[in-house]
Amino acid sequence: MSESVTLSFARLTTAPKGVLIVLTDESLAFGAPTQKILKGADAALTRAFDAERFKGKAWSSVDLLAPAGLDLPRLIVISVGKAAELKASDFLKLGGVAAGKIPASAREATLVLDLPGTKVSPEAAAEVALGVRLRSYKFDRYKTKKKDDANDGPLAVSLLVADEAGTRRAFPVKEAVGDGVLLARDLVNEPANVLDPPEFARRAQEHLASVGAEVEVMDDAALARAGMRALLGVGQGSIKESRVVVMRWNGGAKDEAPVAFIGKGVTFDTGGISIKPAAGMEDMKGDMGGAACVTGLMYALAARKAKVNAVGVIGLVENMPDGAAQRPGDIVTSLSGQTIEIINTDAEGRLVLADVLWYAKERFKPQFMIDLATLTGAILVALGSEYAGLFSNDDALSERLAKAGTETGEKVWRMPLGAEYDKLIDSKFADMKNTGGRNAGSITAAQFLQRYVDKTPWAHLDVAGTAMSSPASDINKSWGSGWGVRLLNQLVKDHYEG
Ligand code: BES
Ligand code: MN
Ligand code: ZN
Repeated sequence: MSESVTLSFARLTTAPKGVLIVLTDESLAFGAPTQKILKGADAALTRAFDAERFKGKAWSSVDLLAPAGLDLPRLIVISVGKAAELKASDFLKLGGVAAGKIPASAREATLVLDLPGTKVSPEAAAEVALGVRLRSYKFDRYKTKKKDDANDGPLAVSLLVADEAGTRRAFPVKEAVGDGVLLARDLVNEPANVLDPPEFARRAQEHLASVGAEVEVMDDAALARAGMRALLGVGQGSIKESRVVVMRWNGGAKDEAPVAFIGKGVTFDTGGISIKPAAGMEDMKGDMGGAACVTGLMYALAARKAKVNAVGVIGLVENMPDGAAQRPGDIVTSLSGQTIEIINTDAEGRLVLADVLWYAKERFKPQFMIDLATLTGAILVALGSEYAGLFSNDDALSERLAKAGTETGEKVWRMPLGAEYDKLIDSKFADMKNTGGRNAGSITAAQFLQRYVDKTPWAHLDVAGTAMSSPASDINKSWGSGWGVRLLNQLVKDHYEG
């Protein structure tokens, strides 16, 4: 994981170092510990507030360089609006907003987690720390020339907290989730010449082994033996081998059925013989965002020792056009035995997922399966980047996902499924075809997947709009968002841990 910040915790009485960030609210008052720290700078602050006409509106701030009366390079005051009304998700945002105010030139910063009239709990303080982590992430591995004013090492951020011991106990669980998000972001941001299917599998193995999860990797030969011909058909036009990675974390009761997460991992999607136009094709290095999320999630669950049995199965292929590539009109037999007529080789994600979903269902008999896939451009047309599309055969699972979405800010919007849509993928020559025409493109893609889950409670998340290239937020400035790791971690935490 790219390490852009190091975090530490100390008491509210600790002398601040570097850029000092303090908090206020609409009253413009400070907590007693903050007042102590700011002693001597009162006059400078009053003048700065006046000059800015600072009213303490939520998330507004005042920035003072070399403040008179304080022996520090910079003082930043951030208002949280109404301190008494802060929700759990606001503390994550607070960490993101605060980290975003620290200039690139700074080496050290101190964030004083002290609010007038409210106590910041260890849980909330740990959320702030997670927000700092997520916001500070940068993918700059391939930049050989750093900006002149940029500091050359990681930024050291010290959080001054009311309950130091409590915060230290609360943070590791958040840190595990944060590391999972950053792992997912790294995978999405990596270019496809570096991150091909074998390299993705290698990284999944390396990261998951480091937190005690079990990993199995199936190569081309193993996939052929298993009968995953729909998946292999997508990869056959590439000189890169395909892979399926099975990740297992057994933190639950011995005989309890696992929860299963399935990811689309097309490390690059040219469209194949149905080749995509040139403009924007570089974004298709992110067509493994679903698999990245599953890998990051499994990392998070293992690293925080979640009391759940979980499996992650990802299908890794590269979709390329060459002499060996699959053609429109080809008919492949999937692992399930169902045959598929290829109409458009660019509708490849569903072919990969068909085999991986079936495999996961047959082998693990999971409590539920949730798949994540950058599956259709049509979901961007429908929902933009604000919500991921949710398709499901199970109302209870859908409601749980929607609730976890509200809690984490990784929101999902349920879309319809039905027999009328399903008819659109019937084929003249095979059991089904891989596209259903222009209309309802995200729905017909989901109908296709549903043919590979039987009665297993299942949800499909179309993350084409949220996994990559989504608008920057308070907790993310990177192209790859790591979307879904926090959502699914929350789902597991709320409902599936013994
Ligand atoms: N990977 C794409 C979907 C996509 C588009 C992801 C934009 C992220 C951003 C997928 O494999 C694809 O090409 N889908 C086609 C399906 C069509 C051929 C039925 C699409 O959406 O156009
Ligand atoms: Mn495609
Ligand atoms: Zn694709």
